[in-house]
Amino acid sequence: MKPHDRLAATAIDPRNPLEQARRPIRSFVLREGRLTPAQARAFDKLWPRYGVDWLRGTLLDPDPLFGTPGPVYLEVGFGNGETLARMAEAHPERRYLGVEVHRPGIGHLLLELERRGLSNVRVLRQDAVELLTEGLPPASLEGTYLFFPDPWPKQRHHKRRILSAEFVALLGRVIRPGGVFHAATDWAPYAEQMLGVLNRAGDRFANTDPAGGYCARPEDRPLTKFERRGQRLGHSVHDLIFRRC
Ligand SMILES: C[S@@+](CC[C@H](N)C(=O)[O-])C[C@H]1O[C@@H](n2cnc3c(N)ncnc32)[C@H](O)[C@@H]1O
Repeated sequence: MKPHDRLAATAIDPRNPLEQARRPIRSFVLREGRLTPAQARAFDKLWPRYGVDWLRGTLLDPDPLFGTPGPVYLEVGFGNGETLARMAEAHPERRYLGVEVHRPGIGHLLLELERRGLSNVRVLRQDAVELLTEGLPPASLEGTYLFFPDPWPKQRHHKRRILSAEFVALLGRVIRPGGVFHAATDWAPYAEQMLGVLNRAGDRFANTDPAGGYCARPEDRPLTKFERRGQRLGHSVHDLIFRRC
């Protein structure tokens, strides 16, 4: 069994009874979906180059992963990695970590990293909450992105939404003072919840919008697949950009 499969069968697999008992509510449901033949080959060929097999209980030092200096940015739940690849290409001086659970999306990103010839991205197949809780050293990130997280629109599923007061506390630990947290969503009620939670974390995060509201989309946030779909459905997008105090 390959490391990224092993992790799926243990730490991030909600069907694993031990994990189920430990953390019954997760922000994702592990629907494996089918890998295309190209994505399957990408796991074999490219995971050794771009993949990081973090094991719970260990601390991940970003420096040896990249071998080059530079600030580290994390994208949580990168989907198919389109945005991550484009940000990394636009900023070769930065180092990017991407964490996602969905294998086809990861396979897609691996192919995209190779196609664009990028060397400043490393990929983890993990529950981002685990990684933020115990995998990253304090103040190790310059910034964290959370773009179009699953909105879990039904009331009974709201507890699955990844952005909560607890999540913001985790971000406060790993983002260095002066660093940035940038979230975007096209689900208005979730945007309101995010804004409330972040504005209440005033000891750790300051809203970069002087009026305490949403920001305009910065030019360096590429449009994502989910965003384009939301636009077609007439949803407006809310960007929230907070600076770590
Ligand atoms: C709605 S999609 C958005 C993907 C991408 N950010 C975009 O804008 O196109 C949300 C993604 O977050 C991932 N996700 C949800 N919870 C996660 C977690 N705890 N750790 C890692 N990935 C997670 C899901 O697998 C899914 O791919």
